[in-house]
This record gives sequence, C-alpha cells and structure tokens, in this order.
Amino acid sequence: MLNKSQFIKMKQEKDKIAMITSYDYPSAKIAEQAKVDMILVGDSLGMTVLGYDSTIPVTIADMIHHGKAVKRGAPDTFTVVDMPFMSYHVSTQDSLHNAKKLFQETGAQALKLEGSGEVIQTMEKLVHAGIPVVGHIGLTPQSVHVLGGYRVQGKDKATAARLLQEAKEIEAAGAIAIVLECIPRQLAEVISRELFIPAIGIGAGAECDGQVLVYHDILKYGVDRLPKFVKPYMDSNHVLGEAVQSYVNDVKSKEFPEVKHTFTMDPDSLPDL
Ligand code: KIV
Ligand code: NA
Repeated sequence: MLNKSQFIKMKQEKDKIAMITSYDYPSAKIAEQAKVDMILVGDSLGMTVLGYDSTIPVTIADMIHHGKAVKRGAPDTFTVVDMPFMSYHVSTQDSLHNAKKLFQETGAQALKLEGSGEVIQTMEKLVHAGIPVVGHIGLTPQSVHVLGGYRVQGKDKATAARLLQEAKEIEAAGAIAIVLECIPRQLAEVISRELFIPAIGIGAGAECDGQVLVYHDILKYGVDRLPKFVKPYMDSNHVLGEAVQSYVNDVKSKEFPEVKHTFTMDPDSLPDL
C-alpha cells in the first residue's frame, strides 16, 4: 500500500495519482485490481447508491457500513473515507469522537473533510491525534445550499485568492493531500504548484497532481446526467439493462433454465404418491 511520502514523491516526479470512489465490496475489488493509487469512500454514496438527491442526508453509520465493505474488497489500497455532513462541525469533542469511530471501524487510511476556516482547526486536531486527513475545497457539495448550487468556484480574483490561501492553510494543518473540485484549470494549476502535498482534481484540469472521479459516473451506472468534467468509459445502464431484460425474457419464454442449469436424481428415490 502506498503512503503519504510515496504520494508526495509521486507529485515531485510528476507521476499522476489515480483515485476513484468506491462504496462496496465489488467496486473496491475492481478498483484494487485496476491498481488505483487511492480509493475514496465518498459521501457521494448518498446519491450513487442510496438514491438521495444530495450528500446531506448521509450519516456516520452509512459511511461506516460502506467503508467496511470497501476495505474488505480493497485491503491493500490506500482508502480515504469522507466525514459526512455536520459530523465535524459540532463541538471539538463530538467531532473527534465521530472521526475516531469512522477511522477505527472502517480501517481507513485517512479521512476527508470539506471546507476551511474552523474545519482546518479540526483537521489539525485529527492530525495531532494520529488520523491522516485530506482536505477538499472549491465546490464542496455538503455546502451546496450555501454555495447556491453545484457550480464552478474561484473564477474571480477574490475567490481565487481565497481558495489558494485555504489550500495553503490545509497543507499547514498537516493534510496529506487536498481535493480541488470544480475550479478553473488555471487556478488548479497555481494551487497544485504552490503546494508540497498532492492536489487531486475533479473538474479541475490536467495540471493537478492526480484525478478523482465517481465510480458510477465513469461507468454510467445508475446515473442519467453526467457533469461536464466526467469522461464515461462504458454505459452500464445500457449493458446491464439489456442483460437483465434478457434474463426476464428467458424466464417468460421458458428458455431458462436449461437442463445444464439443474440438478438431477434417481427417479426411484422420488417420494411414493
Ligand atoms: O464524495 C465524493 O465522491 C467526493 C469526490 C467528488 C471528491 O468527495
Ligand atoms: Na464527498
């Protein structure tokens, strides 16, 4: 399994970090077999696998449930687990308690926290307690209602400067990496260059030190609309839909099961009627 210093070495050698989300055992196995450098158990699971329309309803219990399944499928891949909505904005004591529970019970290698300001102080406390943390700035979906929608962040001089400052503060707090979501590629390039730790982009262009995308997005699996920054690699909705339809058709038309799908016995052993 890779570690913090290897991720920093990858950045220095311009060796890109490939990260993907995963929410369960089969997706984690596929990610590990594909040799991704990092897995993210994203709270995007609220949408991708639980069917909510944002990440806001996701709980610590949800993250533990899915995080444990992912670690069973990818025991040898560095795995980051998201702290869900409001679980790190409560008192310091409760935030630390939530982080401890999530970190211990999932067996994650790091926790990811969205935002800046007071969140950075919480990050410092987690690092101090021995929990590696990853930052996440730009479009932070847990704050969608404060941001006024899922839109690009940091296009004007003031917010661009603020995002660079936040990135530096997150690095200073001891984060091992930072996710930059939905910011202009020119700003992502500057932030990546100014940081020592890797900047992992999603909708942030090619100059980041790594990329992260949502598993269900790249496979078009259960999602209908894809954001501009996603490159789909297959259409699972179509492929899986056709397969399940064929199964249903075979049952209805009695083409399934065939003898080869069945068990047999000596007819003499049948019950007497
Ligand atoms: O939850 C998630 O999938 C994320 C990524 C989009 C970075 O946080
Ligand atoms: Na997330």
